[in-house]
Amino acid sequence: MTRHFLRDDDITPAEQHEILELATSMKADRWRERPLEGPQTVAVIFDKSSTRTRVSFAVGIADLGGQPLIISTANSQLGGKETPSDTARVLERMVAAIVWRTYGQDGLEEMAKNTTVPVVNALSDDFHPCQLLADLLTIREHKGSLAGLTVAFLGDGGSNMAQSYLLAGATAGMHVRVACPPEFAPAQSVVGDARAIAESTGGSVLVTSEPDEALQGADVVVTDTWVSMGKEAEKAERVATFGRYQVDALAMKKAESDAIFLHCLPADRGFEVAPEVIDGPQSVIWDESENRLHAQKALLVWLLQRA
Ligand code: CP
Ligand code: NVA
Repeated sequence: MTRHFLRDDDITPAEQHEILELATSMKADRWRERPLEGPQTVAVIFDKSSTRTRVSFAVGIADLGGQPLIISTANSQLGGKETPSDTARVLERMVAAIVWRTYGQDGLEEMAKNTTVPVVNALSDDFHPCQLLADLLTIREHKGSLAGLTVAFLGDGGSNMAQSYLLAGATAGMHVRVACPPEFAPAQSVVGDARAIAESTGGSVLVTSEPDEALQGADVVVTDTWVSMGKEAEKAERVATFGRYQVDALAMKKAESDAIFLHCLPADRGFEVAPEVIDGPQSVIWDESENRLHAQKALLVWLLQRA
């Protein structure tokens, strides 16, 4: 049966580990795997803007012997003119996989239900699972392992990044703490799913409105924009609400002294993160950004050949 990657918990803890191991070995030998030799094409569709996701998938698909077809929804029939299911049935006749950055998770689910090729979520309003593979790879590189580490996410708890940290972090056996204003909390269903996963992996989940509670003893500190794509109309309210969740030097001092800082980028310096943190010695954002390439290549190899 075709496997898809729409949410971080679409893969088991063992599968997540396998993909990260593959990413590590492929990073050391960049052109080793050629599952798209032919070249076969992968459709990479964008309903929202992107720099990293667009470039890392385009380069990664080429590294794997294939060719990327970057599609902007504005110039396609998707986006109100044609259903995801009809699009999926057309694309499967021609491409090896479909990668899609969109708004609602429901569109991705409809696409996946109606195609025989793997569908990958390249960011939705709810999750950013490809980013989490890259983040976990980066944390592993800097900390040596994942299980048992404590990660503190400060900011928009209902964002795709916070919700993906809950699921992917729990899958990795991490202690995931999200500090956010109560009105910007993660969905209850996501917290419940993360808790259930954590029970089996030895991890844990905490959602709090107190940044200090999340930061104390954290090995990894993460934040993301307060104004995700699609939320621009709420910018003033969000900036007014999120102030105390900024990751600044004082916040980093409350974490472990060897804590690392991650941000998926793009960043708003002076808002969710202070320049001295994101551009400081604890920041690993450029490794994190590069690891999009290696993690996604491993994911594609796994989906196409090993799932
Ligand atoms: N982190 C990330 O997904 O960046 P882009 O929006 O540039 O793709
Ligand atoms: N949470 C951000 C991530 C951008 C990569 C957004 O959705 O805009």
